Amino acid sequence: MPTTILAIESSCDETAVAVLRHTDTKEGSQVEVLASEISSQIDIHREFGGVVPELASRNHSLHLRPLIECAMEDAGVNIEEIDAFGATAGPGLASSLLVGNTTAKSLALATGKPFISVNHMEGHLLSPFLHEPALRSNLALIVSGGHTLLIQMKAFGNYQRLGSTRDDAAGEAYDKVGKMLGLPYPGGPEIEKQARSGSAEAFQFPRSMMKDGLDFSFSGLKTAVLYQLEKLDPESGRAPADSIPDLCASFQAAVIDVLVSKTIRAARACGETTISLSGGVSCNLALREAMQRACDQHGITLLIAPPALSTDNAAMIAFVALHHHLQGQSSSLHLDINPNLKL
Ligand code: KG4
Ligand code: ZN
Repeated sequence: MPTTILAIESSCDETAVAVLRHTDTKEGSQVEVLASEISSQIDIHREFGGVVPELASRNHSLHLRPLIECAMEDAGVNIEEIDAFGATAGPGLASSLLVGNTTAKSLALATGKPFISVNHMEGHLLSPFLHEPALRSNLALIVSGGHTLLIQMKAFGNYQRLGSTRDDAAGEAYDKVGKMLGLPYPGGPEIEKQARSGSAEAFQFPRSMMKDGLDFSFSGLKTAVLYQLEKLDPESGRAPADSIPDLCASFQAAVIDVLVSKTIRAARACGETTISLSGGVSCNLALREAMQRACDQHGITLLIAPPALSTDNAAMIAFVALHHHLQGQSSSLHLDINPNLKL
């Protein structure tokens, strides 16, 4: 009998709904993404230069119901065919989490099916395995707007944190530097675009804590970019237009050097021969290529989810919910959201 999961993601500024189907066949088990809908709020928050929590939750409320209907229609399933309802419980913005979480609980209550509370970071962690035949032991780097995490994953639910950021997350550093350079929100994709026509050697930015343990620190790099801007134009402290590509390329090279070198070091230290890369920043082609080159040099297999599964989406939340469901686990309808939920 196939298992069908509907999951909702609303931890930040993307409203997302996915329907996933798991089937046991003679050849093994198969997971199919029947629908993965995302309603992005980027355009709404762009004029404020970042996510405005109240606007985010209002828009989740507005878009969630039509998105659920759309996902079920695309998946060709009706509500009685859903075996469990999952939703992100954290980490994220409380008022945003509440919208998706309460909706999934209501659907579970109305249909008498289980509710499954999901950790958003576990969604990112498992996302590179969505199209793999099975989960396997690996060293994971999760790089998103709120987190930079190195995790050794032995099996589903067996995770050991090896490193995290002491200050800004990698994506946060991209977004803050993007703002300093006057680029639209979110800075990550814009910096990547600008960096393509710049020189990574133009400015020497620091590689903080490069040789120092497995934790990260990106705030010194952000400050170094700020000082460079003040040097380039002491009057305004704004970046002259012709220096933006070089600033972006040099900043990006510093981020990537640190991410790649620490991830390889962590994998070698714990004897993992597979590295998985996930989270919004893993959409970055320069990071993907640098990580792939380093993995090839060290005989390590690299797994990265396609870009649509790297930024926030509900398919990864449904995938985690599916694993809980297959192990007979569900959550109480009384379980609260937790904006600071840890992996
Ligand atoms: O995982 P995600 O969608 O949301 C969080 O859980 O935070 O990650 C969003 C982050 C943002 O900081 C965004 O600037 C960054 O991912 N990002 C990128 C790229 N695409 C998204 N950073 C660098 N290069 C990109 N191409
Ligand atoms: Zn995320």
